Amino acid sequence: MKLAIAGCGRIASVHYEAIEQLIQDKNYNVSISALIDISEINAKHFQQKHQIDSKIFTDFEDALNQVEFDSVLICAPHDFHETLAIRSFENGKHVLLEKPMAHDLNSALKILKHSKSSGKVFMIAENSQYWPEVNCVHDLLQEKAIGEIITVRASFRQNTSSDIFDSYNLLPGDQLDKAWRFDKKSSGGGITLDGGAHWIRPMRIWCGNVSKTMAKFGYPHPAMEGESLSQAILEFDQNVTGIFEGILTEVTNFSPETPFRVTGTSGELVIGVGGFGVTLFNQEFPEGKKVLEDHGYISSFRHQFDDFYQCVKTPGRQPVASAEFSLGEMKTAFAMERSDREGRWIEIE
Ligand SMILES: NC(=O)c1ccc[n+]([C@@H]2O[C@H](COP(=O)([O-])OP(=O)(O)OC[C@H]3O[C@@H](n4cnc5c(N)ncnc54)[C@H](O)[C@@H]3O)[C@@H](O)[C@H]2O)c1
Repeated sequence: MKLAIAGCGRIASVHYEAIEQLIQDKNYNVSISALIDISEINAKHFQQKHQIDSKIFTDFEDALNQVEFDSVLICAPHDFHETLAIRSFENGKHVLLEKPMAHDLNSALKILKHSKSSGKVFMIAENSQYWPEVNCVHDLLQEKAIGEIITVRASFRQNTSSDIFDSYNLLPGDQLDKAWRFDKKSSGGGITLDGGAHWIRPMRIWCGNVSKTMAKFGYPHPAMEGESLSQAILEFDQNVTGIFEGILTEVTNFSPETPFRVTGTSGELVIGVGGFGVTLFNQEFPEGKKVLEDHGYISSFRHQFDDFYQCVKTPGRQPVASAEFSLGEMKTAFAMERSDREGRWIEIE
């Protein structure tokens, strides 16, 4: 695979480290043909950090014209996803695109249309789909380890001074108050569409699509234009209700908390603090039994790239989750926004 990376910021580094692991452990044949970033400083920083010997471009079109590659990893701000993905498909590239597919639904539908006519692999990098803890909970739910699901609870908490995924730490040249994710035009929303989406996907894997929501938003982060507090009741297709809470602050020190808890008729499944490990509570194990050792959120990136790589290499193979499926997180976030605005339940098609 000859890969171009478009957007060489924080999450691109996490992807690259996963790719490096696959090259080392599984002998995957991936070379980086181009590093593309409108900020040359960021691209150089990325190049030096990972010691990658490939050309840097500040314009995607120049990379398309000057170097050979078959696949693109897009890790740019949400409002650039449409142009970068469509130009990739028009030039016959396979695309691994960071979530959300775009900053709004129209843009996402345009991308999908181009992906279909290109016939190339199109995968949304919703890495929670590949999070070992999430998949373990899914399997145990299928085995009725806690009986029938009664309810699910997800809590996403972050502060912008934390170093989780390095995601909000400043890169050279960054100014926090000008950061794209705080600008609603660029990001398309707030914490729900951004980090919160990774907490909504697991609930959809376990309970089905979100059919209805009632939400209340708040704005505790002074720099963020979109909501930085998102609290919602979600109703799922499988007739289960759940609670989602997402919060982003500047400096709050949050107490350790389990990010997910699924309650059933005969027990509970809990993903541990920091997203590590799964514990089962039921009559047999009233004190809890650790049923999956710690893997964690970041380990999902390796499984995610593995799926993309196999799809590119194997004609006809489809990603574990279709790109269309990721519209579910976008629709849920936009429905929550509308619910907050109109003060009522919103149904999701
Ligand atoms: N999966 C996850 O856990 C996770 C975590 C963080 C971010 N993300 C997603 O990854 C994407 C990038 O987020 P990030 O946190 O890495 O952002 P970032 O700000 O750290 O990096 C974005 C990079 O894109 C560059 N850029 C801006 N416009 C560009 C363009 N038109 N072409 C090429 N490069 C451009 C910027 O200069 C910057 O270097 C977003 O879609 C975001 O939602 C996912």
